Amino acid sequence: MKYYIGIDLGTSSVKLLLIDENGLIVKSSTRDYPLIFPQPGWSEQDPELWWKASLDALKELLASVDPSAVEAIGVGGQMHGLVVLDKEDRVIRPAILWNDGRTAEEVEYLNQSIGAQKISSYTANIAFAGFTAPKLLWLKKHEKENFEKIDKIMLPKDYLNYCLTGVHSCDYSDASGMLLLDVKNKRWSEEMLEICSLSLSQMPSLYESYEVIGKIKKEVAISLGLREDVVVVTGAGDNAAAAVGTGTVGEGNCNISLGTSGTLFISSSEFRVDNNNALHSFAHADGKYHLMGCMLSAASCNKWFCEEILNTKDFAAEQKGITEDKLGRNHVFFLPYLMGERSPINDTNARGTFIGLSMDNTREDMVQSILEGVAFAVKDNLEIARKLGINVIKSKVCGGGAKSQLWLKILANVLDIELEIPQTEEGPGYGAAMLAMVGSGRFSSVQKASDALVRTVRTVKPDSHISARYRLAYEKFKSIYPALKPVFKTIAEESDGKRLS
Ligand code: XUL
Repeated sequence: MKYYIGIDLGTSSVKLLLIDENGLIVKSSTRDYPLIFPQPGWSEQDPELWWKASLDALKELLASVDPSAVEAIGVGGQMHGLVVLDKEDRVIRPAILWNDGRTAEEVEYLNQSIGAQKISSYTANIAFAGFTAPKLLWLKKHEKENFEKIDKIMLPKDYLNYCLTGVHSCDYSDASGMLLLDVKNKRWSEEMLEICSLSLSQMPSLYESYEVIGKIKKEVAISLGLREDVVVVTGAGDNAAAAVGTGTVGEGNCNISLGTSGTLFISSSEFRVDNNNALHSFAHADGKYHLMGCMLSAASCNKWFCEEILNTKDFAAEQKGITEDKLGRNHVFFLPYLMGERSPINDTNARGTFIGLSMDNTREDMVQSILEGVAFAVKDNLEIARKLGINVIKSKVCGGGAKSQLWLKILANVLDIELEIPQTEEGPGYGAAMLAMVGSGRFSSVQKASDALVRTVRTVKPDSHISARYRLAYEKFKSIYPALKPVFKTIAEESDGKRLS
């Protein structure tokens, strides 16, 4: 039996899967690492910890199998994070992550001074705070010394690939989120490199996600007992990898991920752009393209409320009393903007908000409002896709939030579509292992791997009474953010003032 390893380099942990040649998950291992918030709205992580955690998890993963049967490794990783290396390939400063909101000024410069239309013509996207290009402009302004040391720019999973192989690489799906790639033509954008004062030599080489970048380094192979001819594929951004893992490839399929972030991902066999750029237009790991809306806080809202506020890790117990008759009847609403928000409102000042509380409310109503608030935010993105003429009638779901039956029921009814639950909710890790299978020749294409390996085990259908109630509730939800937008701005300006004084 041959084995393949899929690594999901997440925001709170790295999750590894060992799968056999038939796609069966043989073993998994996980290691956590801290997320650092140096200032409100900032988010950083130490890339060396990713490598250390991955090595530890690899050792555990391989402990009970014959490591010499491993053929290939693939990584799917948190997108957009800026990793900068000096000419000795040493990490210059902590990585600035996808959910970091420090670049409001740089985003304004790109979208207003240079112009959103121009930026979109270069990259197929406009600037969002979490994207990599605005971070580079921030670094140039605020940490000039670090900026001048940059020899290579990498994304998180590419740093891991570098540690595994010594090769500086990037795949098109992840590169799309840098705002440095001409997505349509799949090449670095000369205009964007110039705007960011970068040269081509500082950029990693580009590959399709399923292409092999090289063999594993000899010393890594020896320390893990792997064969020296184990190959590593470029892998993908975690959302593209998750989409592969749930079979969301080819034309017009949809995947919703309820992880730390929430995403609505629509695969497309052709290059498409949302004229308002509210949805991202990115390359896909199957060699084609996709449209995506990204919410910065999804399952993390529930985790935050349970762990930080209610002081419990038993999420299921907190949802137990939320019975079906309560769905669509909650008069508490929650805006899930704990880290600001990307799609579709693009507002770094937005914040998490409970609204509508009264004396009769319980903690369960608040938990319910969080699950509903995230589902409404997914609907905000789905509505944009619908306006583009994309008719989504069903979707796959993955990510930690998909473990909650209640959340799935709420989501199916809020969106009023059928949800398909694949055999594993471990989207990115499974998809990354599938990419490794394609790269090493087990399957001839991502589509073929998906046809052979991905199974839907269950569907969750909307109920017409509940979804009718949620239609009315969504109208109320939709009115909250516009009313609070100026308040969020004032609060942000005041706290900026305090930070500076
Ligand atoms: C996608 C995004 C997030 C991260 C999470 O644009 O920023 O989904 O990839 O890991």
